[in-house]
Amino acid sequence: MTTEPFKNVHLLTQSNQLLGLYTIIRDRNTPRPDFIFYADRIIRLLVEEGLNHLPVKPLTVRTHTDKPFDGVSFMGKICGVSIVRAGESMEEGLRDCCRSVRIGKILIQRDEETAQPKLFFEKLPDDIAQRYVFLLDPMLATGGSAIMATDVLIKRGVKPERIYFLNLICSKEGIDKYHAAFPDVKIVTGAIDEGLDENRYLVPGLGDFGDRYYCL
Ligand code: PRP
Ligand code: URA
Ligand code: MG
Repeated sequence: MTTEPFKNVHLLTQSNQLLGLYTIIRDRNTPRPDFIFYADRIIRLLVEEGLNHLPVKPLTVRTHTDKPFDGVSFMGKICGVSIVRAGESMEEGLRDCCRSVRIGKILIQRDEETAQPKLFFEKLPDDIAQRYVFLLDPMLATGGSAIMATDVLIKRGVKPERIYFLNLICSKEGIDKYHAAFPDVKIVTGAIDEGLDENRYLVPGLGDFGDRYYCL
């Protein structure tokens, strides 16, 4: 569903099933194997929702009953770009849906004291300017990291309206800041949290996603 008052934000349907998945991953007592399993389920839903919004063109095929079926096919090619490290957790969900999809990486880390993002590395498909891009990062907090990553994509020639930023949790201020910079990028998310704490972590949030998925 599209959310009001946020334009270009597609929020997953807030079903009891989805709420149950978020309850598990937000619970501080959830052990890492369960965190990975249930985060992966949400990631799969986000990828499917992102795919729902890609443009299509008409395509008619003939079925085994020798009848025409008026369907559609996707209009362009896609690729994924993960913001390393936490964004890498979303690559498998994309691969599950899009066979042999190309995936680029942008390494951005938030400074632990200031929460300011720093860009270390980028490696992107050569033809990325011709593709629809699924930008992958589970958390949109201040928006600094996502803005920096999107800048990299745009400098490589990707059109903002071809970027779909998939994440598990956004803050309202992160959405506002991100869309002030890139109003035409579509955000696909499963949860919009109220705000940030004094360390610029989402509240209620779930803590450090990368640590919970890879380390704790
Ligand atoms: C986290 C997260 C985002 C960023 C969000 O990454 O995965 O990239 O912080 O915060 P922001 O919106 O305030 O920029 P972090 O830098 O902690 O690195 P990690 O992926 O190694 O956990
Ligand atoms: N990064 C995270 O992993 N979690 C937050 O709440 C904010 C940034
Ligand atoms: Mg982190």
